[in-house]
Amino acid sequence: MDKLHVQGNKNLNGNVVISGSKNAALPILFMTILTEEKVEISNVPNLTDINIALKLLIYLGVKIKYKKILYIDASSINIFYAPYHLIKKIRASIWILGPLLARFGKAKIFLPGGCKIGSRPVDLHLNGLIQLGAKINLKNNCINASVKGRLQGKYILMEKISVGATITIMSAATLAQGSTVIDNAAREPEIVDIAKFLNTIGANIIGAGSNKICIQGVSKLTGGAHRVIPDRIETGTFLVGAAASQGHIICHKTEPKHLQSVLIKLTEAGAKIKTGNDWIKLDMRGKRPKSLNICTSPYPGFPTDMQAQFALLNTISDGIGTITETIFENRFVYISELINMGAKIKIKNNTIICYGIPKLISSNVFCSDLRASATLILAGCIAVGLTIVNHTHHLIRGYESFPNKLNKLGADIKII
Ligand code: UD1
Repeated sequence: MDKLHVQGNKNLNGNVVISGSKNAALPILFMTILTEEKVEISNVPNLTDINIALKLLIYLGVKIKYKKILYIDASSINIFYAPYHLIKKIRASIWILGPLLARFGKAKIFLPGGCKIGSRPVDLHLNGLIQLGAKINLKNNCINASVKGRLQGKYILMEKISVGATITIMSAATLAQGSTVIDNAAREPEIVDIAKFLNTIGANIIGAGSNKICIQGVSKLTGGAHRVIPDRIETGTFLVGAAASQGHIICHKTEPKHLQSVLIKLTEAGAKIKTGNDWIKLDMRGKRPKSLNICTSPYPGFPTDMQAQFALLNTISDGIGTITETIFENRFVYISELINMGAKIKIKNNTIICYGIPKLISSNVFCSDLRASATLILAGCIAVGLTIVNHTHHLIRGYESFPNKLNKLGADIKII
């Protein structure tokens, strides 16, 4: 799937079931390396990033069966090296490093790939592992890590809040000798879910979800079953789609508590929001959204992964809105495509200023990354005319059945 024809002028209305979280499922899959006992993971979304993660695990010697639930048996890992052709495809492959090192004392991987939204270094991951006692040698884009005996627990103050590095250190510390404290840790719901999974298989982690995570190392992890949390970014994307199209939507099997900052902004835009235990209802019928001022920041702040979708909302809103991106330095590549569709946007350093217009017009647009893909497809749904969205291979890295789910809500999208 690399091209979509999106017929515009649609309102998105109805019910949508949210899939499992990509950003929780990916690290959890790699965390299964930590144990030689069997593990069952459910609510794993069907995405290309997940398939690449599974291929990487299989390459290492992990046995995997899939029958709605993933059955993972990492007892016979016999390769401690991950090849470039798989590693370069997903940023998440960095999470192989900590678990291999913690269980086997050695790991060799190439620097990971992923969305081109900034320089995306891995220094915080590597520094964390070094502080736990690992020897790390980085040469020709290849990380060679080793430790004699077990890693050693340590107090680690993160110089910058990083989701990925918090996960690397937390996972490695589960099998370290003694206790580790990660101070200034990331607080994302995905971190809480990973800690819950690790505790299910015998780890001793407290404080995940706060800025201080304490891990008491254990000598061995066990087996267990875990259900991945719902995808908060997929949920937010559908909510924005409904708001931008003046629709009415109910997202099911989601977790409203994970979307507080997003729901606050949607309410400010004029949406009526109701939430239940595992659903969110948004009603924007007959209302043009009001422009918003937004600044991305680590959780519980406004997520950078929702920045592009809200930029779309601002393009057709009433008034002038600004969005400031503080997490990644190259996350406005898609803006030129929205401008092609008639949007009035100026970029000033890490801020965009959107001058709202009533309607976008169709165009031939090109996706640059995952969240930009979803945004341009939503833009096509609300624009006047037929929009051709190219390079949509990014989309299936992170959104399960996105065109189908949108079509059920009243969109008219054809996969070319
Ligand atoms: C994860 C998510 C991504 C989300 C991001 C922020 C996955 C697969 N990806 O990415 O969707 O947008 O969190 O919520 O879960 N940094 C360093 N050195 C490092 C690591 C990070 O300088 O070693 C910087 C990054 O360049 C960025 C900031 O720290 O500026 C935050 O990045 P981080 O939270 O680590 O994001 P990821 O884990 O890559």
